[in-house]
Amino acid sequence: MATKTTPLTEENTGKDTVAKDTLSITDNRTGKTYDLPIENGSIRALDLRQIKQSPDDFGLMTYDPGFANTASVKSAVSAIDGEKGILTYRGYPIEQLAEQASFLEVAYLLIHGELPKQAELDDWDHQITTHTFLHENVKKLMEGFRYDAHPMGVFVSTVAALSTFYPDAKKLDDAECRMHQIQRLIAKTPTIAAFAYRHRIGLPYMYPDNSLSYTGNLLNMMYRTSEPQFEPQPVLEKALDVLFVLHGDHGQNCSTSSMRGVGSSEADPYCAMAAAAAALYGPLHGGANEAVLRMLRQIGSTSNIPGYIKRVKNKEVRLMGFGHRVYKNYDPRAKIVKKIADQVFEVTGRNPLIDIALELERIALEDDYFISHKLYPNVDFYSGIIYEAMGFPVEMFPVLFAIGRTPGWLAQWQEGHLDQDQRIARPRQIYLGSDARDYVAMEKR
Ligand code: CMC
Repeated sequence: MATKTTPLTEENTGKDTVAKDTLSITDNRTGKTYDLPIENGSIRALDLRQIKQSPDDFGLMTYDPGFANTASVKSAVSAIDGEKGILTYRGYPIEQLAEQASFLEVAYLLIHGELPKQAELDDWDHQITTHTFLHENVKKLMEGFRYDAHPMGVFVSTVAALSTFYPDAKKLDDAECRMHQIQRLIAKTPTIAAFAYRHRIGLPYMYPDNSLSYTGNLLNMMYRTSEPQFEPQPVLEKALDVLFVLHGDHGQNCSTSSMRGVGSSEADPYCAMAAAAAALYGPLHGGANEAVLRMLRQIGSTSNIPGYIKRVKNKEVRLMGFGHRVYKNYDPRAKIVKKIADQVFEVTGRNPLIDIALELERIALEDDYFISHKLYPNVDFYSGIIYEAMGFPVEMFPVLFAIGRTPGWLAQWQEGHLDQDQRIARPRQIYLGSDARDYVAMEKR
């Protein structure tokens, strides 16, 4: 017969009735029942450890590859309703921010938690635009990369290298010092990105022009040649700004979890952000925009789409830019990106890949495989087509994603550092290897 043990909620103690906000679990191995408190729609994984077969049993764990159903943190930065396709930053809908706020304003919101007043925004903009220069030795370090180095590898390494230039960043408990590193990183990522690009094409690095906007300056450092003053094309400058807003933050995704994971060991933010950018690089995450472009080029024409879809359904290839761990509906960011495409094409001319993308989306969204798997376009499906139309080479796409995500990484890193619940990230494993055995000498193997 089931025996009730370990009543964990106060209301439950000594009473026969089970408290409402609890989960009763019966361990059929022992017949014991446990009542675990439910808080914020979750139970504490450590509460499961009391569920044992014998006193020397380690206790029950959960097995959750890819953390598909494990909340590792409490956060107030961004929220996603995957079923409805809703994304908010600090409560503000992404659609409103994309339409009405600038990227630096959104960066302020993500970091500080509230929208800035005009004077606060002016000061913030000033702080960011006066920290855009890199130490000359950072430039020299970047010059050491191979002529064809992928800009994302250069970006990851250079962000890590900044740690050696700013040893004060280790003062994690000093709020002013933390803010200084945050501003430095938001300010310097476009410079690193542009230098990485110019290195690859063999052009001299172009220094920042702090009289330009955040994205205007990035375009300046990327594309300026001999003209005395670079004038960014306003539509492209704005489109890039909106794309950065859309990438600002996105819950506990792979790169943000890496940022928090490394941050939890109290490494400085440069090292933590290098780890986050490394996680972003993969084609299943921020590298997907690059993979989408290569896929669209490979498909080549709308007539080849049915054949490609067939290969996707046979699981030979994935439809890049489709699907998401959290969204089981249209990614709201993808809707906005699709709209920006038209504005950009009016200036740059139409990228012919858009026709393949639109037709691919149309066919996929009518197909049973995609419907039953709830696969919709994500932010990366259309962003690469815009970046390409704007003249960015495909290797730069994940770097652009990284620039946009920088404030989100830093907001999440700081939130983790200040969270009393944060402990060093240290998941458990289910060990299925050999039992302990004696070393075998070479001649006896
Ligand atoms: N094409 C074809 N099938 C897919 C795709 C896809 N893009 N995505 C998921 N599936 C199928 C998958 O084969 C599996 O099918 P089944 O249940 O029959 O075995 C099912 O859907 C679930 O897939 P999963 O890999 O378990 O899903 P996940 O939540 O682990 O992965 C994902 C999410 C984004 C990695 C995945 O959808 C994917 O690989 N998409 C393509 C890459 C991509 O566009 N990534 C960018 C994500 S958005 C930007 C960002 O935040 O990083």
